[in-house]
Amino acid sequence: MNPLLERLGGYPLAAYQDLKARMVGAGGPLHDFSIGDPIEPTPAFIRQALVDGVTEVSQYPTAAGTAPLREAVAGWVARRFGVIVDPDVHVLPTAGSKEAIFHLPLALVDPGGDRRAVLWGDPGYPVYERGQLFAGGDSDPVGLSDDNGWRLDLDALDPGRLRGACLAWVNYPHNPTGASVDLDFYRRALDTARAYGVVLASDECYVDVHPVGGPTPPSLLQAAGPDLAAPDLTGLVVAFSLSKRSGMTGYRCGALVGDPRLIAAQRLLRPNIGTASPEFVQQAAAAAWRDDAHAAHRRAVFDDKRRIVLSFLDKAGIRVGGSQATFYVWFAAPGGDDAAYAEALLRHRVIASPGRAFGAAGRGWLRLALVPDAAGCEQACARWGEAIESGALPGHG
Ligand SMILES: Cc1ncc(COP(=O)(O)O)c(C=O)c1O
Repeated sequence: MNPLLERLGGYPLAAYQDLKARMVGAGGPLHDFSIGDPIEPTPAFIRQALVDGVTEVSQYPTAAGTAPLREAVAGWVARRFGVIVDPDVHVLPTAGSKEAIFHLPLALVDPGGDRRAVLWGDPGYPVYERGQLFAGGDSDPVGLSDDNGWRLDLDALDPGRLRGACLAWVNYPHNPTGASVDLDFYRRALDTARAYGVVLASDECYVDVHPVGGPTPPSLLQAAGPDLAAPDLTGLVVAFSLSKRSGMTGYRCGALVGDPRLIAAQRLLRPNIGTASPEFVQQAAAAAWRDDAHAAHRRAVFDDKRRIVLSFLDKAGIRVGGSQATFYVWFAAPGGDDAAYAEALLRHRVIASPGRAFGAAGRGWLRLALVPDAAGCEQACARWGEAIESGALPGHG
């Protein structure tokens, strides 16, 4: 057996799913804000596109994906970011972004080389570390903090760390904190990554999930200027996903967009693995990337829920960090202990994720995924507020 399997001890949030299963049996409504897998329906036109794509004969999909899907991704990138990419050399459809994130280091890490380190932010999505470990790299987490807006500033790192790294992950809007960055952040990160020969990978699966009327999160692709009609994508790659944008977590569709050499390397790697999405899924994905109205509608839905929860936390005097975009709300544990507060909340049938589940630097914070509907958010907040008023839970952090 690969010793990593035992060392990593399963996927960190799996324990919460087990816990939820036990709580469901215990009766009464359960307000589950733990797993970032929303329950809003996939738009009907996307489901229909999938059904229409089921053919009598079904053959192996190719690693390069279908041309209409690559073109649909490039079309969205042009509309959303004003960046013109070539669907045939800059775009690679993936089966969601998780597998793409996990597999990227397999093509980038030389396990016998001296630049094996992969940089990623702590707290963060656990797959940056896991992909790199299975690829034979070295883990080099960078502690993030509220004082610095949960930003991973590459230019603030010791040059020695950059010289030992082959890949750096950034993820904004950020899971778990919901922190956002501006375009200047990406420009500085790209300058630094290029100066040290580090590939800069940006996980932007939440880029279309942001408050209505607020600032629209930028993409690393926009830092590839000055001419966005002919961008210089050298040394950068972005992972996009339809999971959050279009309510398609179960479909498994995303895309890598970036440096043609990196895309070509993934095209060489991926037929070995066999991760290409079925073509009927690719047809549904193309329909989703071509449409922006449904993504705007989903934003409005999450906006309502975000407003309910933020207003409750404000009234309760609980300090919020990040929370500028994504469908996560990130708050400081009243009393300071995230695990203890998560357990106490659970006794009132509200499930939040303790920040330490996302890395050591997440200690003292908790994440709420805005999964229950608006009425569920209201009920959970009412219950939580009663617990604070009765003294069963601490309020002010
Ligand atoms: C930061 C981040 N990246 C990537 C993913 C993977 O998403 P998917 O594989 O559904 O595209 C997730 C899922 O929760 C995530 O939170």
